[in-house]
Amino acid sequence: MWPYPRMIAHRGGGTMAPENTLAALAAGLRHGYHAVEFDVMLSRDGIGVVMHDPDFGRTVLGPGSVAQTDAAAIAALDAGSWFGAEHAGEPVPLFVPFAEYCKGHDIWMNIEIKPAPGHDEATGRWVASTVRDLFPDESDQARLPLLSSFSAAALRAARAAAPGLPRALAFGALPPDWEGQARELGVLSVHVDHNRLTPALAQSVKAAGFGLFCYTVNDPARARLLLGWGVDAICTDRIDLLAWDFK
Ligand code: G3P
Ligand code: MG
Repeated sequence: MWPYPRMIAHRGGGTMAPENTLAALAAGLRHGYHAVEFDVMLSRDGIGVVMHDPDFGRTVLGPGSVAQTDAAAIAALDAGSWFGAEHAGEPVPLFVPFAEYCKGHDIWMNIEIKPAPGHDEATGRWVASTVRDLFPDESDQARLPLLSSFSAAALRAARAAAPGLPRALAFGALPPDWEGQARELGVLSVHVDHNRLTPALAQSVKAAGFGLFCYTVNDPARARLLLGWGVDAICTDRIDLLAWDFK
């Protein structure tokens, strides 16, 4: 039901490094983390880049947006200065070398398909077909990346492109028909905002046979409580407070 690690570093390395960068992956490794969540969006020329926000301005200097900029130009942006001078010049990663780094360092990936508005199907299709090419051997499911999204349209496109890759449906709060949506999309797990979860909802997800992943949990006592409710995985920014082998 959940063959993956229990503890997952949010956006690469949580608060230890600029989000969604190679520096974040390195910070995760330094803390013993070999499991990571990060976000992928398509550039104007249809290349996956590792970015959370559709618009520039927070992690890279704006104006501009991912969907209206070519990948080569996005990859030249500074995604580190906002975090600290020591990270100045840290680039926005292109998805393929970023995923290859994870593969090469034995880092398990929860790849969040994060479409810019209006690009759901194209993003789901591109991510799934690219991951399928990076991981042609689907026999060891525990090593395959998990493709998650808040977008049902993106997950449908991902399934059509690479039906053998595991998928996950993300929510804020679980809606009343969460189970119907999860079954329709054929997902392995359900990802929820831990602040919106209750013990009864956790129990119903587990009883229905889905993996249960909570984001973003930064307090060890809260993480312990959630694990006690049957939560399978915790995504955290505080890889310094919640060890990779946290129980
Ligand atoms: O996938 C879990 C979490 O990353 C979802 O929220 O906004 O950080 O992508 P966000
Ligand atoms: Mg995310």
